This record gives sequence, structure tokens and C-alpha cells, in this order.
Amino acid sequence: MKILAIESSCDETSAAVVEGSRGKVKILSNVVSSQINIHKKYGGVVPEVAARNHILDIIPVIDEALAEAYPSPLRRGRLGGGVSKIDLVAVTVGPGLMSSLLIGAQTAETFAYVWGKPLLPVNHIEGHIYANWLSLGKIKFPALALVVSGGHTQLILMKDHLKYKTIGQTRDDAAGEAFDKVAKLLGLSYPGGPIISKMADAVEWNSADSHKFNLPRPMINSNDFDFSFSGLKTAVLYLVKELESKKRLDKQIIANICAEFQQAVIDVLVAKTIKAAKNHKVKTVLLAGGVAANKELKKQLSEAVEQKLGIKFSVPEQKLCTDNAAMIGAAAYYRYKAKPSCAKEPPVGIKVNSNWML
Ligand code: KG4
Ligand code: ZN
Repeated sequence: MKILAIESSCDETSAAVVEGSRGKVKILSNVVSSQINIHKKYGGVVPEVAARNHILDIIPVIDEALAEAYPSPLRRGRLGGGVSKIDLVAVTVGPGLMSSLLIGAQTAETFAYVWGKPLLPVNHIEGHIYANWLSLGKIKFPALALVVSGGHTQLILMKDHLKYKTIGQTRDDAAGEAFDKVAKLLGLSYPGGPIISKMADAVEWNSADSHKFNLPRPMINSNDFDFSFSGLKTAVLYLVKELESKKRLDKQIIANICAEFQQAVIDVLVAKTIKAAKNHKVKTVLLAGGVAANKELKKQLSEAVEQKLGIKFSVPEQKLCTDNAAMIGAAAYYRYKAKPSCAKEPPVGIKVNSNWML
């Protein structure tokens, strides 16, 4: 079946066409229009600005996704090219920014109604997890998913497809949020993850310099699978203040702080994930969400999973880690396959839920 998927939960407007067949999902197109350059000057996402830009981008993005999946010189630029081939429209309805979600949801319902297609609401976190099925295909259950994004840090146990149990989560900031806030403290640009990771990569991890700072690893030994990153961020704040007062905050020192901060986050994420995977005797560990794009996290977690536990590790390819509509299409395919009645014929008066928990 062919699914047109739409994602607009934060600052990426995205549309994709995916084809699901016999338990596998293939991407026919995946168009992402990012607003990063617009929000950069504010140091973070401004919801009102994000919603306005989704309005501008959503129709061209859907048009491009259809045209890329079904190229035809006659159809290009005319919204609806290839629509006859689509079986289902899927859209993210939460969690995310309310005003951003509304644009995607309303657009999806309108097109589904006009085109006479069923409509399937999708959870954004489920989409991040299912990005793993776009890359690997075969994943053994029970699986443990570490979801690390700008808004979430969760350890989710999956006994089977679509069966979730959250066994740990952050008590304050999400991992991606910590990257973004620490980057701001260090005078680096938004989003913080990619720039911190780039600066950290340039640091010789074994040099004496990079060990000058010792940041805390919050809750690393706690008797649960929860996380906390706000104390780590505060520790960076105090360190920055101290270094500033001594006029020592140069580019090299900033890079060293990036390396130590990144390692502190990774140490906690890896330790808790390994402990949870052992405890629940899972057969696969999945990494998902924007922070999964972090090279060092992927490397260290995959080594720990494969060497310490001897089980399979899966992570989506880089561009499928951050927000995109193909992952929403993948989740929609598995949802529809399990229960076709979860898709409804519009008009359904689609609702969004900015706090929708899996
Ligand atoms: O999943 P995502 O695209 O959006 C949300 O659902 O939140 O995740 C965005 C988050 C941002 O906080 C960003 O700083 C972080 O993912 N991120 C990274 C990297 N690339 C993106 N964090 C660490 N290292 C990266 N390479
Ligand atoms: Zn996301």
C-alpha cells in the first residue's frame, strides 16, 4: 500500500510517500523543509513563527513529495499528481507544538477529504521508533527503544509491534534540549546538538586538555531507568561563569567543554540503556530521535550493545533520525496493517494532542 505521510510537529515541514508491503516499508520520496535558519536568530523554536512557516511550506512540500514519487512532466507543479496511487493519508497529531501540529493535521484532513482517502493519525514518538524499520527491516522482539529528541528522553520496552511500555524517562530536560541549552550557554548556534558534536569531534579525547573539566553524570547509578539533565546544564553554567571571570573561555576551552558535556550525556544514556536491556532480556536495542544523529552516541551505544550484551543494535540512517515524514509513514503502515479500522474516512474533525504519550 502507498501512504502519503505528513509531519509538522515542530520546525520541520515534511511530506513523504512510502510503500509498505509484506512487513517492509520503502521510501518513494521524503521531502523536508527545515526552518532552522529562521529560528536560529532567536536561539530556539518560536511556536508562532513555526506555524506561519508551516502554512507557507506545507502545500509545496506535499506537491514535491508526490511529484518525486510519481514523476510526470505534465503533472509537476499541479498539486495532486500521483494522488490516484495513494491508499492512505497519515499525519502526526502529537506530541509537539500545538500550533505546528494543527497545520499538518488540518491540511491532511482537507486533502484526504477532497481526494477521498482514509486518514490515519500518528504519534510522533512512534514515528521516530519506526524510522528503524525503514533501515533494517527485521527487528527481533522484545526490543528496547532509547528515544532521544528535543522534547523527549525515554526508554520504551516493545514486546511486539505497537506494544509499548515506558520504563524510564527524563525527570526534567530532554537530552536534545540539554544539547540546545548548553550550546546557548557556550555562545554556539541553534540547534545545539550538531554544533556541539562537531566541536567535540575536533577535540583529541586523550589529550590532557580534554580532561580538564569533570562534569557530573546525573542519576547514572540510580536504582531506576530515569534520567535528569538539568543539573548537568547548571554545572556547565557555573563552569562557564567561572572561566569567563578568569577570561579563559576561548575556542579550545569551549570545544573541551563540548566534548566533556557530550561524553557525560552519552555515559548516562549508555549505562541506563544497557542496564534496562539486561534487566528486561531484550533481543534488540533501537536508538531513535534527533539525538540519535550523534555519531559518538551511535558508536558508543552500538559497541556496548553488541559487545557487552551480544544482541542486535539498530539506528536509522542519519537523515531519518531527525524529524521527517517517512518515519510517520512507516509507523502508519504498521498501525494500518494491525488494525485497518484505525484509519477513518474524512470528515473526522481531526484532533491534535500536544502531550500525547505513547
Ligand atoms: O527529533 P528531533 O528532530 O525533533 C524533536 O522531536 O524534538 O530532535 C531535535 C533535537 C535537537 O535538540 C537537536 O539539538 C538534537 O536533536 N540533535 C542532536 C544532533 N542532531 C540533532 N543532538 C546531538 N547530536 C547531534 N548530532
Ligand atoms: Zn522529533
